[in-house]
Amino acid sequence: MNAVLIGFMGCGKTTVGRIVSQYLKWNFIDTDDLIVEKTKISISDIFKRYGEAYFRQIESQIIKDISDVDKCVISLGGGAVLNEQNINTLKGKGLVFYLKGSPETIIAHIGDNKDRPLLHTSNPYNTIKELLNKRHPLYVKNSHYSIDIDGKDPETIAHEIINILKDAERRK
Ligand code: S3P
Repeated sequence: MNAVLIGFMGCGKTTVGRIVSQYLKWNFIDTDDLIVEKTKISISDIFKRYGEAYFRQIESQIIKDISDVDKCVISLGGGAVLNEQNINTLKGKGLVFYLKGSPETIIAHIGDNKDRPLLHTSNPYNTIKELLNKRHPLYVKNSHYSIDIDGKDPETIAHEIINILKDAERRK
């Protein structure tokens, strides 16, 4: 079994995913990191030089590449749900958790970090609201569990996920 974390940029998929993986002694996979490793180019530069469509192609390929892993916590980039095939590839072998945050939480987490090319706009807060409105239904539809993150620290969120995973393991 795996745990797959989906949700908007800045919802803590990587931070929470690492805690869950350390606690369960599972491996941790972050698809954005694999993309950078494979291309040797930063995410921002991939968007700048080759565009979003190219980034999405590599993202889907990486997800196919990892589809056979087991006992892994997998953190997906926030836009991975745009191609539902990505989630279907991973869903059969794991539980999918949507880390659900409000635009206020997300903007507070992202601060002035410039690593998210989609938020290089004149009003990142409005961009977050617009993109989140579009994506929220996809996150809900493609997950087994929604985990509210507003007002919670990463440890608390991680333990909610760990408890669900332990329950699922017990019922197997
Ligand atoms: C994206 C989210 C990013 C990264 C890329 C695109 C998105 O990952 O994959 O900048 O479309 O939401 P994080 O969600 O890990 O920030």
